[in-house]
Amino acid sequence: MQAFQVVPRRSIILAVLGIAFFVVLFKLYGDVPASYYRNYNPAEGSLLEASHEPKLQNDTPQPGFFKLQPEWDWKVSASAKGLESKARKPRNRDVVVLTASDGGGHNGAIPNVLERVLEDRKKYCDKHGYTNLWINTSRYDIGEAHRTWSKIPAVAEAFWLHPEAEWVWLIDTDIIIMTPTVSIVDDIIAPEAIQKGLMRDTPILDGQLKHHRTNISTPTSYRAEEIDILITQDHQSVNTGSVFFRRSAFTRFLLESMTDYTMLMGQDHSGAEQDAIKHLMLEHALVRRHVGIYPQRKFNAYVQGGDNMGYRDGDLLVHLAGCWVNNYCVEWFEEFWGKRGHKDPWRPVKNG
Ligand SMILES: *[C@@H]1O[C@H](CO)[C@@H](O)[C@H](O)[C@H]1NC(C)=O
Ligand SMILES: *[C@@H]1O[C@H](CO)[C@@H](O)[C@H](O)[C@H]1NC(C)=O
Repeated sequence: MQAFQVVPRRSIILAVLGIAFFVVLFKLYGDVPASYYRNYNPAEGSLLEASHEPKLQNDTPQPGFFKLQPEWDWKVSASAKGLESKARKPRNRDVVVLTASDGGGHNGAIPNVLERVLEDRKKYCDKHGYTNLWINTSRYDIGEAHRTWSKIPAVAEAFWLHPEAEWVWLIDTDIIIMTPTVSIVDDIIAPEAIQKGLMRDTPILDGQLKHHRTNISTPTSYRAEEIDILITQDHQSVNTGSVFFRRSAFTRFLLESMTDYTMLMGQDHSGAEQDAIKHLMLEHALVRRHVGIYPQRKFNAYVQGGDNMGYRDGDLLVHLAGCWVNNYCVEWFEEFWGKRGHKDPWRPVKNG
């Protein structure tokens, strides 16, 4: 009792306030400033670590199996390593539009198809400030696997070549941009677009099953932070003609899994890399949480099909999927090519 009365009450209050001041100060100091989250760049780690000079080498084959090459080992920064890394709207210049092709395949019948679509995509990219990239997929050693698997190492190489890129949009050669005014950042990639646009509680189809029905659906809710891949689904299954990949640890893991040689890539899957992603989605709830499915016409409308599937006025693009079946590739290509950017009513939505 006596001791308390000796110390004046005012000193005690001052001492407590002083301690509180430093506690608050250090607490604030230790916190990551909000601007860090607003401005973070998933690629920042790779910029720091970049010791290589990434250089596109379309005319030289890689020296061996693609998984052993530096291009496969593209970097992800610490802020995009968690399973719920932050989502943000990328700058336009951090989006790469990737055409992964050797110019052959069933599109070969269309005169100069690769040159024409690349020039057109360059115009689209210049308009919005995206990066246009063609990678010659002939350069990859993918073992005995079907050539369409080589799109996967191309996605990795796109991230490696552009260490600042946050999203890579992989589109097939048989796709024509029909409405170049559409911004893929605002309409598709931005967290708000993802939150609004993804299909919830929607059955994931499997064309190899009778009636294509599985009993597996997309999640009932999504967090935009968790979405790393954006894809669409046609009447049979997800389709890899047009897919968005975010630079993240999950994307790296998924590309690794898809190209598992023992289980997937080295096996005789008729749908190649498309079957791989479908299989992983059907098999793993974790994958379903990270691979969002958009309504098909958002970025993968086909030439044929009803209002869910077939190209309608104003759609971003048309995909000539299946044109080889009845040898329609040249005819369809020229028809849509001539209508690029059209404003007149041509194929209006019928129901709705
Ligand atoms: C594509 O790559 C292959 C193999 O590296 C090469 O032979 C071919 O010339 C390349 N094509 C072009 C257009 O550069
Ligand atoms: C889906 O569920 C139904 C009813 O439970 C069942 O009859 C059917 O076999 C299941 N289909 C698959 C592909 O598992």
